[in-house]
Amino acid sequence: MSHAKAWDKDYRSRGRLWGGGVKDLPELPAGCSVLEMGCGSGKTLAGLAGRARRVIGLDISVQALRLCRPCGPKIDLILGDACRLPFPSESFDAVFAFHVTGHLLLAGRHALAREAARVLKLGGRLLFREFGAEDMRAKKGQEVERGTFRRKEGIITHYFTEAEAMVLFGDLEPICVCTHRWRLRVKGRDLMRSEVKAVFLKT
Ligand SMILES: C[S@@+](CC[C@H](N)C(=O)[O-])C[C@H]1O[C@@H](n2cnc3c(N)ncnc32)[C@H](O)[C@@H]1O
Repeated sequence: MSHAKAWDKDYRSRGRLWGGGVKDLPELPAGCSVLEMGCGSGKTLAGLAGRARRVIGLDISVQALRLCRPCGPKIDLILGDACRLPFPSESFDAVFAFHVTGHLLLAGRHALAREAARVLKLGGRLLFREFGAEDMRAKKGQEVERGTFRRKEGIITHYFTEAEAMVLFGDLEPICVCTHRWRLRVKGRDLMRSEVKAVFLKT
């Protein structure tokens, strides 16, 4: 099954997978233009609506974009691949990559990183989030590349270290790179969640 079809199937069977909104979004300068790569069902877009002059959500899954519609009329939704962005260079003040980079193999992750750097304006920021290598879900499923696992629904996930994120976005200047860890109690067991969060600047 193709990558996009696996995501379509997931959204068709599970609907709005990541409900609610993202609460800890960074401040954005007034009048800025923003791209979210892999916007999914719109969890982050919902928080961006009204905070920028222009907001574009791009996703490879048509089903995901259908679920995004309630995020607001001022958001443009585009079906496309983050590894081959359909935008001219230096188009955006901010590019969000929240939990999309990790769903690509290494070559795809590098292509996404190059494209993100290309479409950012000078002084623009890339905002990155992915699950960390110590996350409770890491190492579940079949390891298809080092640190990248395919689970039975066909979706692959790479679990990041901070160092990997810095290498991947090496064309940009790191402003902050950190790991947020928290505990989750599941069926009486204390499990670890971990997320690498980073902000990079185009200089
Ligand atoms: C885990 S969801 C994250 C959604 C959203 N960013 C969030 O944080 O709630 C990953 C999304 O990335 C999309 N995706 C995967 N590969 C992609 C690609 N090459 N280009 C664009 N979107 C992609 C999937 O369709 C899916 O909607």
